Amino acid sequence: MNTAHYDTHGNVAVIRLDNPPVNGLGLPLRQGIVDGIKKAEGDSAIKAVVIIGSDRAFSGGADISEFGTPKMLGEPNLLTVINYVESSSKPVVAAIGGACMGGGLELALGCHYRVSKPDAQISLPEVKLGILPGAGGTQRLPRVIGAEHALNMIVSGAAMPAKMFNGSALFDEMIDGDLLDGALSFAHKVVSENLPLKKVRNLKAKHANPEGFFMFARNTVGAVAKNYPAPLKCVDAVEAAVTKPFEKGMEIEREAFAHLINTSESKALRHAFFAERLTSKIPDVPSDTPTRDIKQVGVIGAGTMGTGISINFLNAGIPVTIVEMKQDGLDRGIAAIRKVYEGRVKKGKMTQEKAEAAMGLVTPSLSYDDLKNADLVIEAVFEEMGVKESVFKKLDEVCKPGAILASNTSTLDVDKIASFTKRPQDVIGLHFFSPANIMQLLEVIRGKETAKDVMATAMKLAKTIRKTAVVSGVCDGFIGNRMINQYSREALLMLQEGATVQQIDKAIEKFGFAMGPLRMADMAGGDIGFAIRKRQYAENPNMKKMVVADRLGEMGRFGQKTGSGFYRYEPGNRNALHDPEVDRVIEDVRKELRITPRKISNQEIVERCVYALVNEGARILEEGIAQRASDIDMVYLTGYGFPVYRGGPMHYAEEVGLLNVVRAMETFAENPDAEPGFWKPAALLQKCAAEGKRFDEQATSKNQ
Ligand SMILES: NC(=O)c1ccc[n+]([C@@H]2O[C@H](COP(=O)([O-])OP(=O)(O)OC[C@H]3O[C@@H](n4cnc5c(N)ncnc54)[C@H](O)[C@@H]3O)[C@@H](O)[C@H]2O)c1
Repeated sequence: MNTAHYDTHGNVAVIRLDNPPVNGLGLPLRQGIVDGIKKAEGDSAIKAVVIIGSDRAFSGGADISEFGTPKMLGEPNLLTVINYVESSSKPVVAAIGGACMGGGLELALGCHYRVSKPDAQISLPEVKLGILPGAGGTQRLPRVIGAEHALNMIVSGAAMPAKMFNGSALFDEMIDGDLLDGALSFAHKVVSENLPLKKVRNLKAKHANPEGFFMFARNTVGAVAKNYPAPLKCVDAVEAAVTKPFEKGMEIEREAFAHLINTSESKALRHAFFAERLTSKIPDVPSDTPTRDIKQVGVIGAGTMGTGISINFLNAGIPVTIVEMKQDGLDRGIAAIRKVYEGRVKKGKMTQEKAEAAMGLVTPSLSYDDLKNADLVIEAVFEEMGVKESVFKKLDEVCKPGAILASNTSTLDVDKIASFTKRPQDVIGLHFFSPANIMQLLEVIRGKETAKDVMATAMKLAKTIRKTAVVSGVCDGFIGNRMINQYSREALLMLQEGATVQQIDKAIEKFGFAMGPLRMADMAGGDIGFAIRKRQYAENPNMKKMVVADRLGEMGRFGQKTGSGFYRYEPGNRNALHDPEVDRVIEDVRKELRITPRKISNQEIVERCVYALVNEGARILEEGIAQRASDIDMVYLTGYGFPVYRGGPMHYAEEVGLLNVVRAMETFAENPDAEPGFWKPAALLQKCAAEGKRFDEQATSKNQ
């Protein structure tokens, strides 16, 4: 496989990188670069070499398809290639256009000269995967743009336009016209003027006050990085670039890389990186499945969700018709949307024109007839089957053939909703999370009859509106809420058994969740949970009752919206304050249930909450509701504040070891206060633990 093409232009050889889509530096391409340099060195007619990529990318860095395979480190590895290029006897010019990321930028820094399109995007994004640039990036970049700029880029992983560094030693020339032509004339100049083989390694990375600067950097980076070890290692490496000889700095970089690649944080971040790419793949819906055009969207209900959902489409430039029952509801909804845009303008995040343009795409309406041209209608009305029935029957009457009819229901049966129409193949669930214009997660609910092109369209649309779409089958609560119910339930039961409100939230927040379960319940509104529990008790009389929570519900303590819940709130303030009245309720309940409170450790709190997620996740996988364990992780990382550096509940459980998770569940089952059967490990979990397999490995071997 040849992914680097060699040709000559007079006395200049051109090595063109050709590994679409972004010239990932896979083994064949690395070999191709070395071969090209070798060929040029062996040809006495050749006086200089240009390495160039495509319009889209000089190189996006490592080839992600090689991640975790022996090919990734196979020789020539990237370090070898860069050394080979740098020590070439003939000058090598990197011609940079498009993306120049990670290993791509490190390769360019190994060349003797660099010319670039002004709009090329340069970055060292390794930190986002919990590592640092491992092929000299931390040593060479500070030598060309200074320690401060380099550290900012390396610690943030952010992409910068090349023109920002025009005039620095990073670039020798900016090329406005054709990149190859420009690079060739630059190379001819190098030859005709007999310019030296400039090596970045020989430059000095300077800083006027390195001691003060790196102390300051360590403090600020440390405060922001918190649970992530990579950013501080980046500081160490860049400091070495300034204070130590090049080879010593390279050694420090290599050691840091080898350490970071094995940290659980990096494993989690890399897992999330791949998980995110996988979510959009549906095994029986090939990527070339035709999609339907979505040029016009209808939203029914201008409440909390309807308005948030609409903003997503307005932001993407797609016109939205919002239908309400009454004028005042409609006015309130439109005002809520306007307020969001006004807020963005005030904060300088959007121009007034753009905000006006977005508002100009909204058509408020009280008539379903205005939906007749819509390509997609999303219903966000009250959560009652009767209301959904009347809405979908009306939609079936007015919508054009081929229009996609979606429900934003959180709990109702999407197949039943589809059955209210004569076109169940066009019905789908699009479960947005609140606030719908901000939350990244979108659960795409696939009904029994949902057509494949409807699924493909929904997944494509999710990208347009910048959501992470995860496919879920139909069940109560879908993936996310079905699991969170078990997690919250454990938190509520531990309140009865001996833990305090504060202890539970603190333990979970220390584990890394953005918010503990009780503060979260107060924020979401206790009435919803109360209603769900009442329904569940009716459906399952043997279910263990969460009496403390029910008692607070009976007292009308529904959280922030009523000024009290598990905590109390001062008017106009969302700070959760300790409420002795809640302690009294807990004490009373314990007496009534004849529970002798016991000391519950923080470890037990975390394990019971998180393993309850894991066990339900395993059942969800078993039932085929989720396509893969990594999808479940994405639901939790993007929708529920699960700590990213732990990779999601399923990945976390695998890292702890599924055998250990099962053993902990067996211990919890012995608790006399536990509901019999609750801690029985899901069959899939038990099987994976027994066979020493990861969840998705098990699924793969099942499909073979
Ligand atoms: N609030 C959340 O956090 C959340 C999250 C995900 C999904 N959901 C789901 O989204 C849906 C809407 O929830 P919400 O929180 O936005 O409710 P909401 O009460 O804020 O808004 C519902 C709106 O629908 C309007 N409406 C009711 N019947 C209608 C009809 N027949 N035609 C036109 N408009 C009608 C109401 O006037 C109201 O403005 C529910 O199915 C809910 O389960 C809610």
